[in-house]
Amino acid sequence: MQKNIKKIGVLTSGGDSPGMNAAIRSVVRTCAYHGIECVGIYRGYQGLIEGDFKEMGPRSVNNIVNKGGTILKSARSAEFRTAEGRKKAYDNVVKAGMDALVVIGGDGSFTGGLVFNSEYNFPVMGIPGTIDNDIFGTSHTLGYDTALNTVVDCIDKIRDTASSHNRLFFVEVMGRDAGHIALNAGIGAGAEEILIPEENLGLDRLLESLKKSKASGKSSSIVVIAEGDKIGKNVFELKDYVDANLPEYDVRVSVLGHMQRGGAPSCFDRVLASRLGVKAVESLLEGKSNLMVGLLEDKVTLTPLEQAIKGKSEIDRDLLRVSDIMTT
Ligand code: F6P
Repeated sequence: MQKNIKKIGVLTSGGDSPGMNAAIRSVVRTCAYHGIECVGIYRGYQGLIEGDFKEMGPRSVNNIVNKGGTILKSARSAEFRTAEGRKKAYDNVVKAGMDALVVIGGDGSFTGGLVFNSEYNFPVMGIPGTIDNDIFGTSHTLGYDTALNTVVDCIDKIRDTASSHNRLFFVEVMGRDAGHIALNAGIGAGAEEILIPEENLGLDRLLESLKKSKASGKSSSIVVIAEGDKIGKNVFELKDYVDANLPEYDVRVSVLGHMQRGGAPSCFDRVLASRLGVKAVESLLEGKSNLMVGLLEDKVTLTPLEQAIKGKSEIDRDLLRVSDIMTT
């Protein structure tokens, strides 16, 4: 039987990403619009276990649409992976009168939500938030577009030094298991080579490409590497390898790190967050559960959470070819 939803809890979990605040704002205001209550849960599932909650009205989310990070804070809760932890969480949601949960995060966060639902039949809706863009069922996760723009901006700056000093820069970008950031920012910033986890291009090809680039008259180069690249060497070992094999290159390394995760969300991420928050709340009100809201062909869609977790978000292989052609 469909449960009458009168109070929705919202949490952010896993790595923060720009646009999470805009999504919280959207969830809170959509609840208010439909005349139901909303509860903010601090520090993801850990806050659920500890009962760290706050009632959120529409004015509690003023001036956050433009802010990076998450006002609800985030955590990766080990305790929620235990049945005892989830029992404590369930006791707390019952005590607080919550009828459903919106989880903003990545696949680990969705797995937690799904297990919680299977044990307690508690309605859960996911909003994909991670800069990695590695979630099946959406072309864009919250924060990905902002991170791309941040990375391109950084590489543009690095290029000034690369070209002034005729240097080769290895730039490491985030993406533990996915090359979306490396591939797209690499093309956007005009990288010579792009190394991603999905494709092992091999060290020989890298050396060949760098030799070709030198021979074609290029005086500086940028190679973008995803942190999860499978070439078998980290970015500093790659520098040593190129130093040893191509001494004509003056090589430097730049690891962009967490600066890619911060900052004001792009307009795209703010609009996406607003659309996904509305759909998440309204889907719960329609009695739906265990789904992730996402964007496919610019339409807001629903994908079973299980598929979102198990499915693979493929990189666009055509982009590898585009990158090759651009470096001619
Ligand atoms: O999943 C997002 C992400 O930023 C990855 O790209 C990166 O590998 C990881 O989080 C870093 O996590 P942490 O901030 O916990 O070190």
